[in-house]
Amino acid sequence: MKLLLLGSGGREHALAWKIAQSPKIEKLYIAPGNAGTREVGENVAIKADDFEGIKRFVVENGINMVVVGPEDPLVKGVYDFFKNDAALKNIPVIGPSKAGAVLEGSKEFAKGFMQRHNIPTAGYKSVTAANLEEGLAFLDTLEAPYVLKADGLCAGKGVLILPTLEEAKKELKEMLGGMFGNASATVVIEEFLSGIECSVFVLTDGKNYKILPEAKDYKRIGEGDKGLNTGGMGSVSPVPFADAHWMKKVEDRIIRPTVEGLAAEGIDYKGFIFFGLINVKGEPMVIEYNVRMGDPETESVMLRIKSDLVDLFEGVADGNLNEKTLEIDPRSAVCVMLVSGGYPEAYEKGFPMTGIEDAKAGGSIVFHAGTTLKDGQVVTNGGRVIAVSSYGANKEEALKMSFTNAGKIQFEKKYFRSDIGFDL
Ligand code: AMP
Ligand code: GLY
Repeated sequence: MKLLLLGSGGREHALAWKIAQSPKIEKLYIAPGNAGTREVGENVAIKADDFEGIKRFVVENGINMVVVGPEDPLVKGVYDFFKNDAALKNIPVIGPSKAGAVLEGSKEFAKGFMQRHNIPTAGYKSVTAANLEEGLAFLDTLEAPYVLKADGLCAGKGVLILPTLEEAKKELKEMLGGMFGNASATVVIEEFLSGIECSVFVLTDGKNYKILPEAKDYKRIGEGDKGLNTGGMGSVSPVPFADAHWMKKVEDRIIRPTVEGLAAEGIDYKGFIFFGLINVKGEPMVIEYNVRMGDPETESVMLRIKSDLVDLFEGVADGNLNEKTLEIDPRSAVCVMLVSGGYPEAYEKGFPMTGIEDAKAGGSIVFHAGTTLKDGQVVTNGGRVIAVSSYGANKEEALKMSFTNAGKIQFEKKYFRSDIGFDL
């Protein structure tokens, strides 16, 4: 089969690496891809949300399946674009419909959905400029710290956690006043939950689902989980507290009600669901839904899927995922992200990179995130630059390999956290 993968980050390189291993793949294209994805497929210079460009390419090249990496094209309706086009309607898209992508695209919708289906999550109130007074009164009923979330997509920046009531009230007014543009015209105020987070992923055909390996993501820039939030500095899979007993609660209280809830609401959903969970005194609760895989979780999760991922995608497309097997590698897998100095604030691009082959020779799998080719040389092209993933009999062994090999890759102002996994 000829498969087109949309996206250009570390997540997409990891997906492409796994997809390319399938014996079913005759040709893999990545649009637009990065300097790493070209090692496992062919990059095509089309943006992931250029639907007309994608259509032309799919038709001209006889593409049989499209897999969507990032949320943006999903929220913009790439699934529906295919379904409603005479030339494309029989080509499966792995990713939810626009109505399903609202689970990530609107925090207010996600909270309402969880409430309708009795899925455990933090108490909340949804506020606009029209009912600001109710929002302020709701804040009065909560204890510090205070959680404010912009309803719409803000590239991971739309959540504020404020230590005092005064700051929470001030920031609520600023968010409603346009701090994140239209995305914060509605703000969700949430009760603060305390616990360790865990990312759980499922692949669903809308009726059946497979639970993929879970992972923990390290979001802060600094060691010991200090400093600004980033897109993610590393990941570890499996997560020790997510044992069979805890995962059974997750499945019974969260996964099954979500998949059944989507079907009951008539929402077409064939793709990944990412449950951002928090373990509150042994009880799993939902912090957020995403409608795609996590980044950098994918850079460890893909290592632990032994089965043919494309065969699973066919199960999603054909609605017989229950007939497919998902075999998971019992080893640990981890990822350490190398970033540009200054990230997540201002940083420079274009620094030449060396040592990638040495890191691979040292046993790691290297996934490119923000890289590009300049005159035949790999150079930095983003904040999160490259992920060094490794297997190990346990996470300590895997981390040791990733840290050693992270040291072999060089570029100006390189930084990585050398404490990934410290809290597990
Ligand atoms: P979100 O974009 O919803 O995942 O929020 C970003 C981060 O804010 C999460 O990964 C959590 O660390 C934190 N967060 C969000 N909601 C809550 C909450 N209700 N209680 C505690 N922390 C939260
Ligand atoms: N690693 C968190 C995310 O992908 O949103």
